[in-house]
Amino acid sequence: MARPSLTKIAYHALQQGKTLAGIAHKEISTKLMEVMAPEATTKKFPINKELIKEVRQSMSKLERIDWKEAEEGIYPKSQLFEAPWLEWAKKYPLVWFDMPLTWERRKRKETREIPKNINQEEYPNYYLQNFHHQTDGYLSEHSAKIYDLQVEILFNGTADPMRRRILAPLKRGLKQYTDKDNYKVKVLDIATGTGRTLQQIKSALPEVELYGLDLSGSYLKQASKYLSSRRGDVVQLVKANAENVPFSSNSFQAITCVFLLHELPRNARQNVINECFRLLEPGGIFVLADSIQIADSSKFISIMDNFHKIFHEPFYSDYIKDDIDSRLKKTGFTSLSAESYFMTRVWKAIKPISD
Ligand SMILES: C[S@@+](CC[C@H](N)C(=O)[O-])C[C@H]1O[C@@H](n2cnc3c(N)ncnc32)[C@H](O)[C@@H]1O
Repeated sequence: MARPSLTKIAYHALQQGKTLAGIAHKEISTKLMEVMAPEATTKKFPINKELIKEVRQSMSKLERIDWKEAEEGIYPKSQLFEAPWLEWAKKYPLVWFDMPLTWERRKRKETREIPKNINQEEYPNYYLQNFHHQTDGYLSEHSAKIYDLQVEILFNGTADPMRRRILAPLKRGLKQYTDKDNYKVKVLDIATGTGRTLQQIKSALPEVELYGLDLSGSYLKQASKYLSSRRGDVVQLVKANAENVPFSSNSFQAITCVFLLHELPRNARQNVINECFRLLEPGGIFVLADSIQIADSSKFISIMDNFHKIFHEPFYSDYIKDDIDSRLKKTGFTSLSAESYFMTRVWKAIKPISD
């Protein structure tokens, strides 16, 4: 049997390190909260040994796919190690300093504490909340600064491997364009946040013209900072509501959207899917990634339930029961397929070419 390469060993060691660090951080912070702010704690569903085993297996499967697709050249192996490590090390104390504020809000059951200088009329009402009890919601530079690290900790280092699952279907879907000489392909990432998905797309498809959209100016600023620190990653960033995007119809060959739908009420969820359909040129591909749902991952139902019990996720319990396949079909998408990877489900759909 061939020996695993050093890169493969390093990748698995890194993932294991991130998992252990994530678990340790959560254990310590939960214990601290129980002592310092017991009123902020929530009753959770117990996670039994069998489920822990399932979670471990599912994480290992995700790692194997992540490695395999890098080996196949879907993205460079350097992506497996991509993170602003020094930045994160510097920001880690901020995550701890922020925690007592989070506990205080949990205690008061306060979920709508957003910065006073925000012009509320610029945002839909559902957006003006402290998603995940996050200080300032999505509406400050402080929040944008620590978001990536918080997500990394929350998912025990699997956030980027889960995001990367959009790259294979995206690349396959765009082959019809990228196989041609001098092709011009425009890809839009909806709810791009701090730009990690954009960076991943750029590494897998360096020639495409990239656009990112988000409703948070602070998150876009953070995305711009991150992307401009990397040579050659030129991306156009737009502040707008994904329900009403300021681009003309049929103007993109691909649209991606990662971890947005579970944060939207039903009507907004459908509006965003409708917008993605409108923006795509016929033949274009839509790749959507979000949380797993009850229908495809019922074995993880207690994890899903704990997620919205522990973190403020006002639309999650509705999202996990929502039929996204039907929504996509109803909108007009065809050639639907979907697959789950650990805590993320990835849908691929095509806007048909009408005759
Ligand atoms: C959970 S984060 C996901 C960010 C990013 N895609 C990622 O993978 O980390 C949700 C993002 O959706 C954005 N968002 C929420 N509602 C939105 C809307 N109606 N229009 C545009 N962006 C929205 C938030 O500002 C935030 O950046």
